[in-house]
Amino acid sequence: MKILMISSETVPWAKTGGLADVVSALSITLAKSGHDVRIVIPRYYSIDKTKLEQLPGEMGTPMGEGVEEWSAVYTTTMPGTTKENPVKVYFIDHEIFFGRDGIYGNSNQTDFVDNPRRFTFFCYAAFQLCRKIKWFPDVLHAHDWPAAVAPVYLKFAERFPGSDFENTVSVLTIHNLGYQGIYHKDNFNYSGLGWDVFYKGGFEDFKMMNMLKAGLYSSDKINTVSPNYAEETKTQALGFRLDGVLRYRSSDYYGILNGIDSDLWNPEKDTNIPQTYSKKDISGKAKAKEALQKEFGLARDANVPIIGMITRLTDQKGLGELFGPAYGSAWSICRDMDLQMVILGTGEKWCENEILSLASRLSNFKAKINYSEKLSHLIEAGSDFFLMPSLYEPCGLNQMYSLVYGTIPIVRSTGGLVDTVENFNEKTGEGTGFMFDHLTPSSIYNTVGWAVWAWYNRRKDIEKMRIRGMSKNFSWESSAQNYVEMYEAARKDRGITSVL
Ligand code: ADP
Ligand code: GLC
Repeated sequence: MKILMISSETVPWAKTGGLADVVSALSITLAKSGHDVRIVIPRYYSIDKTKLEQLPGEMGTPMGEGVEEWSAVYTTTMPGTTKENPVKVYFIDHEIFFGRDGIYGNSNQTDFVDNPRRFTFFCYAAFQLCRKIKWFPDVLHAHDWPAAVAPVYLKFAERFPGSDFENTVSVLTIHNLGYQGIYHKDNFNYSGLGWDVFYKGGFEDFKMMNMLKAGLYSSDKINTVSPNYAEETKTQALGFRLDGVLRYRSSDYYGILNGIDSDLWNPEKDTNIPQTYSKKDISGKAKAKEALQKEFGLARDANVPIIGMITRLTDQKGLGELFGPAYGSAWSICRDMDLQMVILGTGEKWCENEILSLASRLSNFKAKINYSEKLSHLIEAGSDFFLMPSLYEPCGLNQMYSLVYGTIPIVRSTGGLVDTVENFNEKTGEGTGFMFDHLTPSSIYNTVGWAVWAWYNRRKDIEKMRIRGMSKNFSWESSAQNYVEMYEAARKDRGITSVL
């Protein structure tokens, strides 16, 4: 199948979270099984265009309000793919929209005011790109709200008898329902779509324009990144006001668990840690722990458990309950328990400040407020436990990285965390992690306390849990197969015969 991934992020060029990992790993896996997969992303300033090849000529994209946007198009091949099965990546280079620091915003403006235009343009540019390269996909696969208007263009403007997109189906993946792209409806004029589409395409949202909602209405199939989150999002509690839409679309709505890139996240081949290790010989993990303690300036002690965290610092991750001024439990956890804690993250200012303030007062709590791919590998390998007290978690990648690195997750039972972690059973010693239900400072305190108790009193069980986690297989192959089945189902619904 010819599959076009439309995304605002993909590694190794642009990443703020798991979306970027997923888009590239899924594409690589699909390409390995013989599909012709291409990705289109914006050419942000941080992407060095001298390392890319420019396609000849400029590309014009007609938008509403009589505007024609001009952009250059760059291309390259995804690292890790072969000549026989490459994943081609295209970069839309539009100076006014993308020639600035930041993907969605920066320190001056957390959400750029022209984001509705930037990403509406990007969605339509994807169609112009296909025409430019004379390659028309069987599947247009959009990711999250920045790409969500692409399926709307397909349904209402591009897919008609005789068109090059006549047999194209669309899929929209929700990586995070918390971000929907809701803007003033005046922005809709710029899309160039008729105002009837504002209503029948699903944009209308209490008189605002909701880009994700339109995608959810207009895509042939939709999915999210774990089976449990798919169920949760159909409820009022976790549906972010779109639970009604998701219930309405439930027969076309799938939950497909993310995999992890086992070339990048694999303790047996990881070049970012001092010594590789496996479940047969785990000695390299102790070396990583030592290196981690050194890196963060912690006391070198093999016997004290290290709790690691790597996260975007936002409410989604349960950080109010952990670091909230006066009520968060991190202070009492570090004060009362014999443990060390390290955190790597960037995000909301209040949270960065609280973390730095805690680090200045506690000798067993250390933090780095930055983004470091390399350090994230050392934390996964060198920690004994990994804490994710998420408020909601569509899938979560870090708990899967933790499991395969022999690092035991301590997680709230929500979203994909439920699909990937099994709670410790004190009677049988079974399980792969420690879980709690209610997001309160005291639940986090008690569950970390439970894990630390097990560390000092049930070491044999802990070692077995490690090995159980390391034996898990989160490879992309089976998830990619589920995506193929969803693509096929969309094609079947439109009466297109299987290409497989
Ligand atoms: P989300 O996408 O909601 O942030 P995921 O668990 O799916 O959550 O993915 C987060 C990804 O981003 C992981 O690969 C994680 O290691 C990475 N990450 C987040 N913050 C940082 C950071 N400060 N430095 C390095 N990697 C980070
Ligand atoms: C989102 C979610 C996260 C998920 C990731 C990749 O950012 O918050 O849970 O793992 O997307 O799908």
